[in-house]
Amino acid sequence: MIIVKNIEELLKHTKNLDSVGFVPTMGALHQGHLSLIKRARDENRTVIVSIFVNPTQFLEGEDLDKYPRRDLADIEICKRADVDILFMPTVESIYFEDELRVEAPAIRGFILEGSRRAGHFNGVLQVVMKLFNIILFNRPKSLRAYFGKKDAQQLALISQMVKDYFLNVDIIPCEIVRDSSGLALSSRNAYLSADEVKEALAISRSLKRASKLVMQGVLDTSTIEREMRDVMKNLDIEYIAFVNRDFKKIETIELKNSTILVACIVGETRLIDNIWI
Ligand code: PAJ
Repeated sequence: MIIVKNIEELLKHTKNLDSVGFVPTMGALHQGHLSLIKRARDENRTVIVSIFVNPTQFLEGEDLDKYPRRDLADIEICKRADVDILFMPTVESIYFEDELRVEAPAIRGFILEGSRRAGHFNGVLQVVMKLFNIILFNRPKSLRAYFGKKDAQQLALISQMVKDYFLNVDIIPCEIVRDSSGLALSSRNAYLSADEVKEALAISRSLKRASKLVMQGVLDTSTIEREMRDVMKNLDIEYIAFVNRDFKKIETIELKNSTILVACIVGETRLIDNIWI
């Protein structure tokens, strides 16, 4: 595995590539990230993983400074997963002064996660656009980029960016990885105490309850929301939302075209989860 810390070096190592599988991350890698990397490994000649705690997607007062950083452990995980190139750029090599900005779409980019975290998706799209372009620079035969359904709105917006800006990248959505109790894996789970982990389980339980209701033929979102609130009655719920795959809000579940999303605060930690129906 080659570890590269700046763009010039990366360009040296990405000449004449065939199929490339790219997994962008912010590190503190867990089984969720690993499932994306494994899939990229299965489907491409070359696997590139990036680890970059992107400052522009953290808002004032968010956890940029305390975001978990585990470079040495992450390097080992990538080596074992047979990653070819691990790209760990510095902030200075990615961002310039007074630079051009990519902006999230006015509606889809500013509801749900984008409303609670105004400007968050501008930062996500800015960095993903840069990372895609750096890898596309030497024109690989194909570029597939792997994203988790865990961050459903992020996935929808990146897919939209690829379409709206005619980028030559295939976006591959990957299933949510959970621990044996159902909790969706997240680097932020590291902030939870043992008691908070137990409390947080109500999130995935509420989504399971929702999916069971849908299987029983309940498609009305307000009925489903009521039941979900009941399961999560001890949690501080930020939102429960129902959207279709275009990320437009819906009143009635459309089978195979709906996502139910939850954001909660557990202790001091903000957690998100969702289920695709
Ligand atoms: P990060 O939170 O590190 O996540 C990197 C990728 O791993 C994302 O595509 C995310 O959806 C996926 N992922 C995280 N937890 C997962 C789980 N439990 N199951 C499946 N996939 C999971 O998302 C980001 O970083 C950043 O916003 C980034 C796209 C790298 C831009 O900075």
